[in-house]
Amino acid sequence: MSLIHEIDFGTPRSKSEKTVTLTIDGVAVTVPEGTSIMRAAVELGREIPKLCATDMVEAFGSCRLCLVEIQGRNGTPASCTTPVAEGMVVHTQTDRLKRLRKGVMELYISEHPLDCLTCSANGDCELQDMAGAVGLREVRYGYDGKKHPNPGLDTSNPYFTYEPSKCIVCSRCVRACEEVQGTFALTIAGRGFDSVVSPSMAEPFLQSECVSCGACVQACPTATLNEKSVIEIGTPEHSVVTTCAYCGVGCAFKAEMRGDEVVRMLPYKDGKANRGHSCVKGRFAYGYATHKDRMLKPMIREKITDPWREVSWDEAINYAASEFKRIQAKYGRSSVGGITSSRCTNEETFLVQKLVRAAFGNNNVDTCARVCHSPTGYGLKTTYGTSAGTQDFDSVEQADVIMIIGANPTDGHPVFASRMKKRLRQGARLIILDPRQIDMVRTPHIEADYHLPLKPGTNVAVVTSLAHVVVTEGLVNETFVRERCDWDEFQDWAAFVSDPRHSPEEVEKLTGVPADQIRGAARLYATGGNGAIYYGLGVTEHSQGSTTVMAIANLAMATGNIGREGVGVNPLRGQNNVQGSCDMGSFPHEVSGYRHVSDDATRAMFEALWGRPLDEEPGLRIPNMMDAALDGSFKGLYIQGEDILQSDPNTQHMAAGLSAMECVVVQDLFLVETTNYAHVFLPGSTFLEKNGTFTNAERRIQMVRKVMAPRNGYEDWQVTELLSNALGYPMHYNHPSEIMDEVAALTPTFAGVSFKKLDELGSVQWPCNEKAPEGTPVMHINGFVRGKGKFVITEYVATDEKTGPRYPLLLTTGRILSQYNVGAQTRRTANVIWHEEDVLEIHPHDAEQRGVRDGDWVKLTSRSGETTLRAEITERVAPGVVYTTFHHPNTQVNVVTTEFSDWATNCPEYKVTAVQVMPSNGPSEWQEEYEELSRQARRIAEPLIAAE
Ligand code: SF4
Ligand code: SF4
Ligand code: SF4
Ligand code: FES
Repeated sequence: MSLIHEIDFGTPRSKSEKTVTLTIDGVAVTVPEGTSIMRAAVELGREIPKLCATDMVEAFGSCRLCLVEIQGRNGTPASCTTPVAEGMVVHTQTDRLKRLRKGVMELYISEHPLDCLTCSANGDCELQDMAGAVGLREVRYGYDGKKHPNPGLDTSNPYFTYEPSKCIVCSRCVRACEEVQGTFALTIAGRGFDSVVSPSMAEPFLQSECVSCGACVQACPTATLNEKSVIEIGTPEHSVVTTCAYCGVGCAFKAEMRGDEVVRMLPYKDGKANRGHSCVKGRFAYGYATHKDRMLKPMIREKITDPWREVSWDEAINYAASEFKRIQAKYGRSSVGGITSSRCTNEETFLVQKLVRAAFGNNNVDTCARVCHSPTGYGLKTTYGTSAGTQDFDSVEQADVIMIIGANPTDGHPVFASRMKKRLRQGARLIILDPRQIDMVRTPHIEADYHLPLKPGTNVAVVTSLAHVVVTEGLVNETFVRERCDWDEFQDWAAFVSDPRHSPEEVEKLTGVPADQIRGAARLYATGGNGAIYYGLGVTEHSQGSTTVMAIANLAMATGNIGREGVGVNPLRGQNNVQGSCDMGSFPHEVSGYRHVSDDATRAMFEALWGRPLDEEPGLRIPNMMDAALDGSFKGLYIQGEDILQSDPNTQHMAAGLSAMECVVVQDLFLVETTNYAHVFLPGSTFLEKNGTFTNAERRIQMVRKVMAPRNGYEDWQVTELLSNALGYPMHYNHPSEIMDEVAALTPTFAGVSFKKLDELGSVQWPCNEKAPEGTPVMHINGFVRGKGKFVITEYVATDEKTGPRYPLLLTTGRILSQYNVGAQTRRTANVIWHEEDVLEIHPHDAEQRGVRDGDWVKLTSRSGETTLRAEITERVAPGVVYTTFHHPNTQVNVVTTEFSDWATNCPEYKVTAVQVMPSNGPSEWQEEYEELSRQARRIAEPLIAAE
């Protein structure tokens, strides 16, 4: 294995369809119009020396190293800023050019520190490379001349250093921060020779606006910006392409290694989801894989009050299997079940649901998508026929109007947010529906045309009102609707939305959104060109989550914004493989490919291959499992990679359900909160230690490749296989590729997927089959998957969760950039520096009424429970609304959320809880108890960890 070097073409690809032919050094080359001479030369296999150019950012033309001669033109223009022209004749290597380039390099080197041998970038430095490329052998000016200003080494960022003495002021970092990331955290301060790169107002990186995406570090041609891990470990010697294990963007990375140690994760330019960009989590927060808290040995205990006992894999697996068999013999076949994880690979997820259906013999399998995007599955399947988003991420580059509903892309889906921001800076218009003033409402060079700050829980009313304006103002795309949708259903729907009770003026009374804003937003979306909707958990995690998804689908159909580039309905999926875990059949009513278990032909296909009869009755969902546990009919649970105690709602109910079970098996990386209720702990493996695939929010299936041996001894799919064998249902796979082959054989939308194809193409978006052998970037192009698009009546029904004198505020929850979900991974990285604890955002008016000052402890109470956290006073939330994140177990905000859930899918209503906020002296009693429990757990585990 060697280091993967991606070609740097110097300037970005031109998207022109027109081509131009020119001659470079006597060789003809044809490239798209608008291509730079530099890029055309690289396409031809010739590299022109360069320093300030790199293909992730637009050409700048400052270093003057890339000079060329063009026949018939005077001078020596820079090849990075000069576009090709038909018939142009270019020379890249003449005596004059060689002389000029050497002169330029002499100047650079004369002021550069001469510490190459001990520099962390030695061997991986473009300045060094260019000195070699131009044949520089001496520097006529000596090395003692005036140097650039040097404000001193900045080590404030936990992951990279800034060493200004090495800076050549090429501005690649500044442009990367602006053009790729869109944060505008860097400037060049000073002028001429005194110029220097400056984060924000000459602040250290950590105090600046920098969000640690790493784009500047990647762009820097010298060691000025360098990863601390490279400084510590040395330059990498081999690399493997893999996929980020955090969010549903699915960024591709080169894991650059020394032996089996990760030196750094570099975003992969060929990654079709991220196109070479990253966020702080995927780029830097991988250290949890080798964190001392990793549990690497299996453990068992008979009662959850007993101490853990470290045992061999054999003993743990056999104990778990015998317990499950005992429970089924005593309480019946349906008394056990399993939970798959959206953090695990498709192959691992497929095996867990196979174990439940074939080895347990029931359909009691569910997944964490239950608590996030199950309404997406239901809503989009009902209206369009497929439980997935309609576009690829590239599609946003063609969008004219972007509507974001209940999503916070800069925190939740940062790399896609950067792509979105780029399109917005190019002039696309922006509509945001969110109770909070998320960053996208106003961010450098971007301002939303409309921000509709709706009251939590009123999505259906607002989206239906948008449709009211579209229909009553004659903005329906009738041609599209007549051709592509069920016309009768459309007419019923049009009559429904036209009712005056859905008018913006009426809806304003319910939602707090000014009527003129609803009207303006609807007109812009319907008439502004390509309209693309992106939505998140702020849509789904409601009692009417599925209804809102269908309301969005209706709106897109009515305006003809579906079935081509630049439009569509796009759920921004939360976890890395939430799409995949749903695709693989993790729900109790569906096998892979979203086929109902009651369908005889589907079951017959599985039964023939699996050799076991399948139950035709849907199994239990997670909340029903807990109810059944409390009823005494559900006694055993196998949980792979999911901390249900912390991530699911109504913690007390969950804890009571888990406590009532006789065998809870948790397979995880750490002693997560759910392990407090477990009888068997099976150590899990990280994404760095396994092979498989993840499917991102675009339906893109991408390879996860093992870069180090599993520290616990097994990849997660192997553990499921061991358990299944011990249960008496044999599984024998040699490699996850064989599991994917089985998925392909059983699932029509995956029929053309194989590891071989993924290796060849890099990734594919399902459906991938005979009709679409290379996958399907945009869906519903020539017709909806279900045939005619279905308009669904979306009556607004207010949630039962009501504010009142006792609980006068509405709590809504979300994520922050640096942390991920329950934080099991990110809390074990330096990312904690940005978010040490969950805080409660509260409007100044509400804070004042309660005598709460910024930073005070406050007690947050609902009818479900209470927690205590610190207050942050901010106008990001409207009066009457409070907001917090759910990353820290000592806050466990889900003790406050309620049992209400989506009517169709049981997705919990995390986004609306009536609460009261009062000043407090410090953590509540249960939080103290929790801290004590955690301390005990650590004490129990410490000897085991120390023994590693
Ligand atoms: S790390 Fe990202 S956000 Fe920070 S300065 Fe560099 S490019 Fe900008
Ligand atoms: S820090 Fe690096 S990328 Fe930025 S101007 Fe200096 S040398 Fe160029
Ligand atoms: S945007 Fe998501 S997939 Fe990409 S690096 Fe960040 S966490 Fe990973
Ligand atoms: S690379 Fe063209 S001017 Fe710097």
